[in-house]
Amino acid sequence: RNSTRESLFIVNEKARDYFVNTLHNNVDGVAIGMAYFRSRGFRDDIIRKFQLGYCLEERDTMSKAAIAKGYKKEYLIETGISIETEDHRLFDRYRGRVIFPVHTVSGRVVAFGGRILGSKRKDVGKYINSPESSIYHKSNELYGLYFAKQAIVKQKCCFLVEGYTDVIQMHQSGIENVVSSSGTSLTEGQIRLLRRFTNNITILYDGDSAGIKASLRGIDMLLKAGLNIKVLLLPEGEDPDSFAKAHTATEFQAFIDEHQEDFITFKSRLLLESVKHDPIKRAEVVKDIIHSISVIPDGLIRQSYAHECSSLLQVQEDIIIKEISSMRRKDF
Ligand code: CTP
Ligand code: MN
Ligand code: MN
Ligand code: MN
Ligand code: MN
Repeated sequence: RNSTRESLFIVNEKARDYFVNTLHNNVDGVAIGMAYFRSRGFRDDIIRKFQLGYCLEERDTMSKAAIAKGYKKEYLIETGISIETEDHRLFDRYRGRVIFPVHTVSGRVVAFGGRILGSKRKDVGKYINSPESSIYHKSNELYGLYFAKQAIVKQKCCFLVEGYTDVIQMHQSGIENVVSSSGTSLTEGQIRLLRRFTNNITILYDGDSAGIKASLRGIDMLLKAGLNIKVLLLPEGEDPDSFAKAHTATEFQAFIDEHQEDFITFKSRLLLESVKHDPIKRAEVVKDIIHSISVIPDGLIRQSYAHECSSLLQVQEDIIIKEISSMRRKDF
């Protein structure tokens, strides 16, 4: 069984080499794939570092080459590099897409993300990802962790972003302590992985309603895991990739220093905005914030947030503390 796992990693790494080689050395790879990455403002050293690649548009060029080289069909299928049709022919899953290899903490290639060129289409997903396999469980991997781990330990904190390109563009801006949950649904497994490296997380999701909703969900999950949470809300319509591309590294850093906020400040600002002077709705928001505090496992930290919440929301501290106790009795 271990040798099967090893074989799957080897197949992935050979595929990674093939995609990288296509991007840099194939005429179409350069004209299409490389042109796409350049249009997104990715530097050559960053393209190399993240082992970005390209898969040709032909239906089965890669599968054929792999079979000809003696790679087992079953491994090509399990890793998801090839898809088998009903009449048992193979075709290339990522054809016509640029490739983002996903690495384990130790740098093995465990999966791929493939992006269509250009903007969204209704008929196909913008990104296609590897299927789950005996080596790949999407909910237990964090994109970028392999490239970020040293910086996370050194900076004693980590940015959590949504996407592949957010990680890459931030690296390019000199911010290397960043990982992606690959979409907006952070999992318990990803949190367990992240907390091996730091207790301090800044959520930096896209500045849209999906990103805000995911930030609120992420806050409670991360607090529950005992982590210290800050949030950085980007201007409407921006994600870390677009923001980093439109600003210098210094401007980006200045934006972080100025706008990174405590989860309580973030939630109050965000949720109280819509409440105006409605006392009932205001009370619901206060409860929502107190609930976030109530999931924090450490009693002293809970107390300290209760204190902050009291002065921020103008609610008596003993009322907040009572509410926290009653919520903890109900939830735990
Ligand atoms: N994602 C995915 N499949 C999709 C859409 C998104 O797996 N159909 C994941 C990808 O990991 C993606 C992340 O969710 O990077 C965030 O999605 P989104 O914000 O829509 O994409 P971006 O990362 O901004 O990608 P791009 O800038 O290339 O459009
Ligand atoms: Mn998004
Ligand atoms: Mn995005
Ligand atoms: Mn984007
Ligand atoms: Mn106090």
